[in-house]
Amino acid sequence: NSNNSVKYDYLFKIVLAGDSGVGKSSILLRYCSDEFNLEQKMTIGIEFRSHDIEIENSKIKAQVWDTAGNERFRAVTPVYYRGAYGAILVYDITNHNTFQSLQYWLEEIRSRSNNPDVVLMLIGNKCDLKKLRAVPTDEARRFAEENGLSFLETSALDSTNVKLAFQIVLEKIF
Ligand code: GTP
Ligand code: MG
Repeated sequence: NSNNSVKYDYLFKIVLAGDSGVGKSSILLRYCSDEFNLEQKMTIGIEFRSHDIEIENSKIKAQVWDTAGNERFRAVTPVYYRGAYGAILVYDITNHNTFQSLQYWLEEIRSRSNNPDVVLMLIGNKCDLKKLRAVPTDEARRFAEENGLSFLETSALDSTNVKLAFQIVLEKIF
């Protein structure tokens, strides 16, 4: 590119989905800026940020989209999921309700992304809060296997597995 404005070989859109409070925006902030905020405000509408990585000498721009889990603030536009190459479903390991919502989020992604090959990853976030665990790892792993999802437990707070989760999704897309 002559004006050098395009500095990547591939742009991959990845969407985050899951109930309010599970830590979607915190995962985005950790991945794209390596920061964490205990007073993270709930998302209103749609936001997205990018992170550049290299896979096999190709420059990849991951464009990660984030919206409100709370339906009052969600941007219920087809634009959010459309064209996504990857989707990361997030629940909170300390809140079993957020795990029970996964079927709903999975159907949202599958029906709205318009991509039958969308790469799906399941994330159990807040794994730093071991003493408050409400969702056994085995139960989540079983759900992931039954639905063809990759699975990891993460912590946006202490960074556990956040980079790895995106890396796995991006390599599968690539
Ligand atoms: P909505 O925007 O409402 O859909 O919520 P969200 O999924 O974006 O959650 P958000 O990132 O706003 O996080 C909710 C709360 O959980 C905030 O107080 C975060 O600081 C906290 N939080 C997020 N990730 C973690 C984590 O890995 N560990 C701990 N201990 N707290 C976390
Ligand atoms: Mg948010």
